[in-house]
Amino acid sequence: MNSLIPWVGGKGKLLWLIHKLAPSSYERFIDVFGGGGTVTLNHPLQHGCIEIYNDYNSNLTNLFCCVKNRTMALLKELGFLPLNSRDDFNVLFKFFSKDEFDDDYMKEELELTEVFLPPPEAEAIKKLMLERAPRGDVRRAADYFKLIRYSFSGGGKSFAGKPCDIRCFFHLIWKCARRFASVVVENKDFEDLIRQYDRKNAWIYCDPPYYEAEDCYQVEFPKEDHQRLHDVLLTCQGRVMVSYNYCSYICELYKEFYIYRTKRPNSMSQKADSEYEEVIITNYDPEQCAAQLNMFRMVCGAHDGEDIPYELIHTPEK
Ligand SMILES: C[S@@+](CC[C@H](N)C(=O)[O-])C[C@H]1O[C@@H](n2cnc3c(N)ncnc32)[C@H](O)[C@@H]1O
Repeated sequence: MNSLIPWVGGKGKLLWLIHKLAPSSYERFIDVFGGGGTVTLNHPLQHGCIEIYNDYNSNLTNLFCCVKNRTMALLKELGFLPLNSRDDFNVLFKFFSKDEFDDDYMKEELELTEVFLPPPEAEAIKKLMLERAPRGDVRRAADYFKLIRYSFSGGGKSFAGKPCDIRCFFHLIWKCARRFASVVVENKDFEDLIRQYDRKNAWIYCDPPYYEAEDCYQVEFPKEDHQRLHDVLLTCQGRVMVSYNYCSYICELYKEFYIYRTKRPNSMSQKADSEYEEVIITNYDPEQCAAQLNMFRMVCGAHDGEDIPYELIHTPEK
């Protein structure tokens, strides 16, 4: 299933390997760094399995909560003035950068209304806007959805510069609402979340900000957090899987785990055929525990009909 929103570091191109190396049985699935939700949305539905989506970015979790619980209200809100221009983006960007609703925001929205609409309509819309001024969760979710959809590569930082009719995504919102109907949405720091939900029968999937790319997100992830994540994962009773960029720091940090290496097309690069090396790390031996893996150490998996090699590059001593 396509993601609700584009998200930096989204795992769409790695799903095939995540599923291949997944444990064969578990009763709770925990997507610790859920981001755009690709992994949860594509997690195979299993009878009796609890699913948890988490992210520390509260705008994002508010969006997923509204998609799940306030679907109609969100669609209505998105249908209200679906403008798309650099000005519209700038207003939303300013609001989410400051993370507060102030008079400047409203002043700009009212001015924009005058720019876009002829006087009688502008007056009517301005009146409506003033009545709706208190920003509820739904309105916040709609604004955040637009900010991400209007921005370059979903980064939320710069205007994509191309037309985007928000109403084209309504079908995705419906699909996502249905898929998230039984998913628990959490907004916690990874350590608290893992300690709360870890059990013997859990599959804990972690896709943290990549090493030396921590500043791509709207929440901070200081360098020490890579160590903090490793340390909490080392104590887990459940099956753990972590995705990272391939680099010596991460391979050294996770030496007590199994490490698989693969590559994927680098969508952020301007160069043709540019590839990005990734690792998938597990605290279990996928050759023993995964449903779909055969006994070959250097194998290929298919993504979009293309064979992509992956390789076990490290086995723990114990
Ligand atoms: C690589 S992205 C996850 C992408 C996601 N797997 C997808 O397919 O869209 C990393 C996510 O970690 C979140 N994050 C950063 N610090 C966190 C923390 N301390 N606890 C939980 N989530 C955090 C960021 O907001 C970001 O969405």
